[in-house]
This record gives sequence, C-alpha cells and structure tokens, in this order.
Amino acid sequence: MPLFRTYDEFPPVVTTTQNFDDLLVPKDHPGRRPTDTFYVDQAHVLRTHTSAHQSELLRRGENAFLVTADCYRRDEIDASHYPVFHQMEGVRLFAPSELASFTAEAVLEDLKRTLEGLVRSLLGDVPLRWVDAYFPFTHPSLELEAFFHGSWLEVLGSGVIHTDVLKLCDRTDRIGWAFGIGIERIAMVLFDVPDIRLFWTQDKRFLEQFSDGNISNRFKPFSKYPPVYKDITFWCPPGFHENDFCSAVRDIAGDLVERVQVIDEFTHGKTGRQSRCYRITYRSMERSLTNTEIDELQQNVRTHVSQELRYELR
Ligand code: PHE
Repeated sequence: MPLFRTYDEFPPVVTTTQNFDDLLVPKDHPGRRPTDTFYVDQAHVLRTHTSAHQSELLRRGENAFLVTADCYRRDEIDASHYPVFHQMEGVRLFAPSELASFTAEAVLEDLKRTLEGLVRSLLGDVPLRWVDAYFPFTHPSLELEAFFHGSWLEVLGSGVIHTDVLKLCDRTDRIGWAFGIGIERIAMVLFDVPDIRLFWTQDKRFLEQFSDGNISNRFKPFSKYPPVYKDITFWCPPGFHENDFCSAVRDIAGDLVERVQVIDEFTHGKTGRQSRCYRITYRSMERSLTNTEIDELQQNVRTHVSQELRYELR
C-alpha cells in the first residue's frame, strides 16, 4: 500500500474557513483581499491553494496524503504567473515512534530530505536552494527554488505544520510537515518551457511535442514572434491595486498579453495623486501581431479602464 493517499477530485469552490481560517490566515492578510482572491460570494472563494483541503483531511484522521488540484489567484502578469495553475499538496504526520526525536527539527529534516529527493527525481541536477519563508500555518516555513533561465523560480512552499493548526484539527498527538508544489513551475523546469501561457495554448507545434507518460523530452521552441509594446498612463484612484489593472488587461486582451510592468511613476507635489505608466507587452505564441490590431486592443483596454475601473487616463 502506498504511504500517501491521493485526492484529485475536490471541487474548486471552498469556504473562506477552509481556504483561510483553518490555516490561521489573519483577517487582514492581503491574500484574503478581493484584489488577490476570486470570491464567489462572501463566504466562498475559488481555492487559492491546495492547503484549503488540509484541515478537513487531518480531522478525518489521515496521516499522509497528496491533494492535486486547480488553484486560482489574481496576480501580476509575467512568464511564471497565470490566474489558474495547479498545485499538489503533501502532508505527513508522525507518531512519536516514527521519528528519531519528537521535535520540529526532526520533522524539518525529514521534510527537506523528502522534498529534495522528490524534486531531484524529477528535475535531475538543476541548481536548487532553500529560502526562509512565511506561511501562517507552518513554522518554520521554507521555499524551494530552482535556477531557471537566469533567475530563481519558486517551485514549492513548505514547513512544519503549526501546532495551532493541529489543535484545531484535534491532532495534537502528532507532529508533521506539509508542502505545496507548483505543477506548472515544475513542468517549466522539467520540459524547459519558458512561458506559463504555453500550457494553455492549442498550438499543435506545442502540443505535438508532448505525450502522456513521457517526461524525458525538452521543449523545442518554435520561432518567437515579435512583441508589440504599448504604454498607458493614468492617475491611480484611491485604493488602487495593480492586480485590478492586470485583470482588466487580461479580460480584454487575454493570452496575447505577455507582461505588464510599471515603467514610470510619480506623485504630484500639490495634490499627492500618484501617476503610473504601465508598459503592456503583447506577443502571440502562434503568429505575428499587427500594429493595427494591437492599437485596437490597446484602445479597448483604455476604454475599459477609464469607463469600468474609472481610472483617469493621461
Ligand atoms: N499553500 C502554500 C502556497 O500556496 C504553500 C504551502 C503548502 C506552504 C503547505 C506550506 C505548507 O503558497
């Protein structure tokens, strides 16, 4: 019998209790805001992580499990972020007899060894590093990063399960670890896929390079089509949040947006108002974009942010 029981059919709408409260996420944590999380109604969200299913399984008495699922976040736009992504949660609780010493240190050591083994078995000898992290539901917390295309890419978050989480689940007889691994992030490194949007493309030149059960091939890039850059400048309204702007751009331009980055900002000396200039990089994975087509799209973005979001354009 495998040690870890697997789950991959939990529906994506969960309660705010599952997604946040059970995990000790403070009421004022930025992750709870509607700028970061898709709310279905006041008490329900699209899960932002597979940790949303941890407490329920712990309460049922499970000691070792994996939960794989689609997760949703409102986020920045770049090559490694996409509003929907996949995670696999892993949890392991130990009885006193299963550890050399019944301490957080022993758990942490097992966690590091297990996850390094897992990631190495998938990625071979790419450079990896552990960095300190913070999650409300684990202590200590660590992230594992892989070196990919010139920078460090986070591939998983993890830590020793907080004793208060175990208390809420009536499981104080045990201690243990948890991790959440980003499936697309692993796949990017494993298959050498440079942009997360590619996982959503219908382009045959991408799809035909992969087949079920084969994890040994590397992505052979097809020609990169040229980017088209468009800038937009506006006065930030009170309570402005970049994710709102990014979502609006995504709503209008979809997967043609490769990147949204702030390139200039200043605060008006007298009024204190902040002005920002954003550069939108448009690029298709499939074809060359024409300037006329992107002008039109950019015009739609402008109309949308001024009429729906009520930003004052400059
Ligand atoms: N849920 C965390 C995230 O999505 C990752 C994590 C899982 C961290 C389990 C610690 C333990 O970022």
